[in-house]
Amino acid sequence: MREQMLAAEKVKALEWRDNALYLLDQRLLPQHEHWQRYETAAEVALAIREMRVRGAPAIGVAAAFAVVLAAQKLVDSPVSTWSAALAADFALLAESRPTAVNLFWALQKMRDCLAIAVQQAQPLPILAAQAVAILNDDREANMQTAQLGLQVIREASAASQHVMTHCNTGALATAGFGTALGVIRAAYLDGLVSCVHVNETRPWLQGSRLTAWELVGEGIPSVLNVDSAAAHLMAQGKITWVIVGADRITANGDVANKIGTYQLAVLARYHQVKFMVVAPSSTIDMQLSSGTAIPIEERNGEEILYIGEQRVAAQIDAFNPVFDVTPADLIDVIVTERGIVMQPNQQKMHALMQDN
Ligand code: MRU
Repeated sequence: MREQMLAAEKVKALEWRDNALYLLDQRLLPQHEHWQRYETAAEVALAIREMRVRGAPAIGVAAAFAVVLAAQKLVDSPVSTWSAALAADFALLAESRPTAVNLFWALQKMRDCLAIAVQQAQPLPILAAQAVAILNDDREANMQTAQLGLQVIREASAASQHVMTHCNTGALATAGFGTALGVIRAAYLDGLVSCVHVNETRPWLQGSRLTAWELVGEGIPSVLNVDSAAAHLMAQGKITWVIVGADRITANGDVANKIGTYQLAVLARYHQVKFMVVAPSSTIDMQLSSGTAIPIEERNGEEILYIGEQRVAAQIDAFNPVFDVTPADLIDVIVTERGIVMQPNQQKMHALMQDN
C-alpha cells in the first residue's frame, strides 16, 4: 500500500530548490499551473495571506522555508545579530493567517532551531535542515494517517463507501498526498471507495477547483455538489462517511476547519453518517482548552460578492468567516500519525499527545 500511495504523489504545492521556495499558485488552479519562485520571507508571507499557498500543513512548511530565505540574507552579518534581525520576519509570517496552528507550530520549531543554530559558526544549513525535516515529517505523517484512516474505514465495514469531503486536504494542502484526501486515496486504492462527493466549498471553491482537480487527475470516481446539497445527499442515504481535515484541534478534541464543516457534522450525526477528521499532530493545539478560544479568520467580503472579476451580489455587505468549529462530541474519530482517537475528548487527546 505504501508503494501505491507514493506512486499517487503526483501533485505538489511547494518545492525547495536552488536556495529558493517555489509555490504553485493555487488562486489560478485548475485553469493555470503557474509556479513562482520566492526569495524573501515577506513575499512568502504575502503568498500565504493571499492563499497562493494554503491548507494548514502547507502553510506551516512554506513559513519554515520563509525563515530560511530570511536567514540567507544574513550570511554576511555576525551570527550574534541573527536572532534580532529575524524577529521582524517571524512576526510578519505569524500575521499572515490566524487559524491554522501549523503556521505557529512551524515558526516555533524554526525559532527553537535558531536558538541552537546561532551557537554554531554556520547556522544556515542547520535552519535549512530543520525546514526540510518539517516538510519530510509532514509527508511521512500523511502516509501514517492514510493507513490508519483506511484501517478505521475497513473495520467499520467491508462494503464500498460513498465519501463526502469538504475543502481541499490533498497534495495541494500538505507536503505529501494529503490528510483527509490521503485517507480517501488509500481507501480507494484498497477498493473501499465507490464515489467521492466533493463539496464545492464556497466561497473560495477549494472543492470544485482543487479537490476535484486532484481526484479527477487520478481517475478516482468523484462528483461535485454545491455545499447546500449535503443534507439532501445524506437523507437519500448516499453518504456513508464524511472525511475532512483540520486547521486546529484543541485539547478537548474540538476541530476548527473550513467554514461549513460544522454543519456537515450536525447533518452527519442526524443522518447516522460517520464523521472522521484527519490531521497531523502539528495541527493539535494543547494550549487551547476548547474550540471557543480558536481565532477564526474573517476574509474580505468580496470573496462572496464577486466571482472572479464579476460582481454577483446586490449592493449588500458580506460577512465572510472562513473557518468554523465542530465540537468534539459530533466527531466519531480523529486520525493522526500518532494514533486514532475514537469519540475524542480531553482525556483521550491528552493521552495521544503524551504517549509518543
Ligand atoms: O482556507 P484554506 O484553504 O487554507 O483552508 C484549508 C482547510 O480548511 C483544510 O481543510 C485544512 O487546512 C486541512 S488541509 C490538510
